Amino acid sequence: MNIRIAERDIAERVRSIVADLRPLEGPLLPILHQVQGEFGYIPQEALPVIADELNLSRAEVHGVVTFYHDYRDHPAGRHVLKLCRAEACQSMGGDALAERVKQMLGIDFHQTTLDGSVTLEPVYCLGLCACAPAVMFDGEVHGRVDDELAGELVEEARR
Ligand code: FES
Repeated sequence: MNIRIAERDIAERVRSIVADLRPLEGPLLPILHQVQGEFGYIPQEALPVIADELNLSRAEVHGVVTFYHDYRDHPAGRHVLKLCRAEACQSMGGDALAERVKQMLGIDFHQTTLDGSVTLEPVYCLGLCACAPAVMFDGEVHGRVDDELAGELVEEARR
């Protein structure tokens, strides 16, 4: 019963977001952005509503959600740690950094620790290439991330 109410609430809220943003040219991305801003992720229940309202197939909407790395299909942890996976950061040890962070957290990209404290996500350039490797922790960027700083961020996230 509660789940049904939640689904209905999601559908209503998504319909309202679509109504607000439909006049924009190319409204799908702004709508998805707003839905994720509201719920913290793109609920499965939102897809058929958006598809229906925009006259798209559900597969088309799903394809866009999965194409863009910024969209999540599940709620994030209390903290979000994004590691830059683009070229400049890779050339400065980004791969090794990613492996160490994954080990410290015990998760892979697109996963959340079991205690719900941290979600780990890849990102493709944070505009901090001169200070590679770079990460973003809860919206704040950090450059020249070494093992020590990575360890501090992981510690902070787990508190
Ligand atoms: S490549 Fe990592 S910040 Fe640009």
